[in-house]
Amino acid sequence: MELKSASKMKIGFISSEIYPFSKTGGLADVAFALGKYLAINGHDIRLITPLYSSIDTKRYPLKRLKEITEVNLWFGSQKYSFTVYIGLIPQSKAMIYFIHCPVLYDRGALYTNDPDEHIRFGLLNRAALELCQKLQWSPDIFHLNDWQTGLLPVYLKTIYNWDRLFDQCRTVMTIHNIGYQGRFKAHVINDLSLSEYHQWFDSSDLYHGHLNFLRTGLLHADKITTVSETYAREIQTADFGEGLQDILQGRAQDLVGILNGVDYETWNPQTDPWISKKYSINRLKDKKENKKFLVERLGLSYSKNTPLIGMVTRLAGQKGIELLDGGLQRLFAEHDVQLIILGSGEQHFERVLYQLQLSYPRQMVFYRGYDTELSHQIEAGADIFLMPSKYEPCGLNQIYSLKYGTVPVVRKTGGLADTVDLYDWKTQKGTGFVFEHFSIKGMYWALDYAINTFKYPEIWKKIMKQAMNKDFSWQKQIKHYENLFESIIQE
Ligand code: ADP
Ligand code: GLC
Repeated sequence: MELKSASKMKIGFISSEIYPFSKTGGLADVAFALGKYLAINGHDIRLITPLYSSIDTKRYPLKRLKEITEVNLWFGSQKYSFTVYIGLIPQSKAMIYFIHCPVLYDRGALYTNDPDEHIRFGLLNRAALELCQKLQWSPDIFHLNDWQTGLLPVYLKTIYNWDRLFDQCRTVMTIHNIGYQGRFKAHVINDLSLSEYHQWFDSSDLYHGHLNFLRTGLLHADKITTVSETYAREIQTADFGEGLQDILQGRAQDLVGILNGVDYETWNPQTDPWISKKYSINRLKDKKENKKFLVERLGLSYSKNTPLIGMVTRLAGQKGIELLDGGLQRLFAEHDVQLIILGSGEQHFERVLYQLQLSYPRQMVFYRGYDTELSHQIEAGADIFLMPSKYEPCGLNQIYSLKYGTVPVVRKTGGLADTVDLYDWKTQKGTGFVFEHFSIKGMYWALDYAINTFKYPEIWKKIMKQAMNKDFSWQKQIKHYENLFESIIQE
């Protein structure tokens, strides 16, 4: 269909995390950027998210939305009350509504295994609709993100169906990661005040005693997106679909892959305030200062000719950490190479990495934790960026790496496959090193290829430049969302 150029739309964007307020991974960056760039393009985008107690309200002052007094909601026999605070996405006019419900959001982490986890995010969905009612604001599109927002289409079509305000509202559900689905015991349907509406849930799930937030969202959203074209294909297969492949195959006409973009105002070596020396494609020698700063900051010794590999990652099964145990022993035995890993997450992976660090204290540093400044310094300082993911819906770090001339070594899956091109010695084209098989052998092949190529500075410089010249900006990617939203509104 031929689309007219984007007219101004009203978009209610619901997300369980938004950078810089709350973040565990890429969803927060995407929420920030979509908010920022849709607002810049003139759309009335309003984001809705929990006011977690971890949000630094001294650094990011929020204002109480006075028009809305306390709202009471019943979940089963339990009453919850919330108020609303407002803030802005930095560098933009995109408004964020923070749902303040301390009894649910004052916890040690954004996500928990607490027995009321379903209510924590069930409430987020209902609070979004209540808020729209109070403001008498009816979005053209509710843009929903991951399992935490999966119940909104059902609430919209059941409990809130009476309200004509929502008659024209359409829903788009974006899958950032199908590995997290929000699976609960079926009896939580009572807590969610949806027991009268069990026909809206997957009957086989309920029969087997489950209720799945993401599956429910995918069944009822008007359109489904995910964050790369390859992942859109992958999740329709048994290997990647995590049990949801059948419903995604059934809805293939409504499913589209839109690659994430990058906010080059945040991730740009020419302007990055966190790195030790700014650099550009024309001043690549300044990148070396960042390498020296980084290795010395973390207690390694600097050598220009020793390739430095960086990783910044959640330590989760998805990220291929298991390949390091086995892969690194061989790597350190056969190559003069250094490795810096910044990450936190599952304890057994942390133990493996500590163990490796003990065995190779001069080659490797494992920095356990979550540290935004250090993540920028690794992007700027490393020569090679490693992402050996088992699956990767999009992946942002490899795209940041391209811009920083930090050549990515990635597995060919999801967004990694769509953003990094294997360097070819014959044609001299390519932006990184890509392996296909999820195995130590596969990863070693790509690292070995990269490290051997690094020995040829002129060739390496060429790869760096090819990488830095790639444009994965949100300015480009945002149009795909605008076109999709418009097409839904016109349907
Ligand atoms: P995912 O969302 O699966 O974790 P992405 O590559 O899409 O993967 O996004 C990860 C984001 O989180 C990036 O912005 C990355 O810099 C950041 N990140 C991940 N782990 C850390 C960490 N330990 N410290 C700082 N930033 C991190
Ligand atoms: C998820 C995915 C990651 C993606 C991010 C933002 O957490 O694991 O690949 O880049 O969401 O869409």
